[in-house]
Amino acid sequence: MTTPLLEIEDVVAEYRTGKRTVRALDGASLTVHRGETVGIVGESGSGKSTLGLLIGRLLPRATVFPRGRVLLDGESLLDLPTERLVGVRRERLAFVPQDPVGALDPTLRIGRQLRLALRTTDADPAALLDGVRIRDPERVLRLFPHQISGGMAQRVIVAMAMARKPDLLIADEPTAALDSQVREEVLRLLFGLAAEHGTTVLWLSHDLGGVARHCERIAVMYGGRIVEDGPTAQVLTAPQHPYTAALSAADPARAKDGTRLLTIAGTPPVLTEDEPGCVFGPRCPAATDDCATTRPESRQVEGRTVLCHHPAGAPPGPGGGPVSEPPLAKEDAR
Ligand SMILES: Nc1ncnc2c1ncn2[C@@H]1O[C@H](COP(=O)(O)OP(=O)(O)OP(=O)(O)O)[C@@H](O)[C@H]1O
Ligand SMILES: [Mg+2]
Repeated sequence: MTTPLLEIEDVVAEYRTGKRTVRALDGASLTVHRGETVGIVGESGSGKSTLGLLIGRLLPRATVFPRGRVLLDGESLLDLPTERLVGVRRERLAFVPQDPVGALDPTLRIGRQLRLALRTTDADPAALLDGVRIRDPERVLRLFPHQISGGMAQRVIVAMAMARKPDLLIADEPTAALDSQVREEVLRLLFGLAAEHGTTVLWLSHDLGGVARHCERIAVMYGGRIVEDGPTAQVLTAPQHPYTAALSAADPARAKDGTRLLTIAGTPPVLTEDEPGCVFGPRCPAATDDCATTRPESRQVEGRTVLCHHPAGAPPGPGGGPVSEPPLAKEDAR
């Protein structure tokens, strides 16, 4: 077996601000092979951006890592000396942020920014813009960021990110600020270029439909862990984790016409330390006593990885199978 491109193993990451600790990653694990397209989804605060920034070691200085490892081609990123890290960021990784206009320098023309970003390559800025289907690239190179639309700005960012043919592209909600038509165009471009260059993509997203169209694999995050991970179509059509099922049922784009949109009752946790049980337990319709006391570890069910004591497809019995509502006792059923 070849070494995976990326291995995130049991990472705990805590933001420390003054006396306050927020544990944004709580034992997150994810293995990604070369050329895969992986969508990472989960409610706001589940830790998606923290996971993405962790890979570039771009988290604030005050972030602490009580445990875990991040390996790129077998090399530990958390232990890399700064110079080598800068090289890895420049040559092997690329990031596409949520706000394209904010990511460009407002004081510099597009052409100057592209030339600065590409200074150690022989890439031609006009050809790059042409590659992301920007018409009249010579004119656009002379414009300032505020003179172009959000969609065009995101194409410029995609062109910059892909210019060095990175091994791994981390796109953090790259289309959240765009309207739906432009959004799909940008996604098609991004995934098209990635396929052309053999770039592996991690797309951090709230768009389950978009992930279903563009990513072969989906990883569902909750409370700083990946709670279900497998082939996108299978995970979305037959979720194993109750949280995946709830997330899928709460997605407006995926709801069938005329059906009521379900919401997930309760709020996501903000963790500060080790919790004894499953952190989805308080919101979970299938929770039992062991969910409150025992932390779920990863298990393989129906071709995917699931962190749940009662995944939908496991055989019934202790530690397996979904738990149905207990039938009403006769005297209660009056
Ligand atoms: N710089 C920071 N300092 C302190 N806490 C932070 C910081 N950044 C994120 N957090 C907290 O860490 C947790 C995970 O946040 P993160 O931004 O990774 O989630 P997310 O899944 O990307 O959310 P969203 O979908 O809103 O982008 C949240 O509780 C968040 O409030
Ligand atoms: Mg985020």
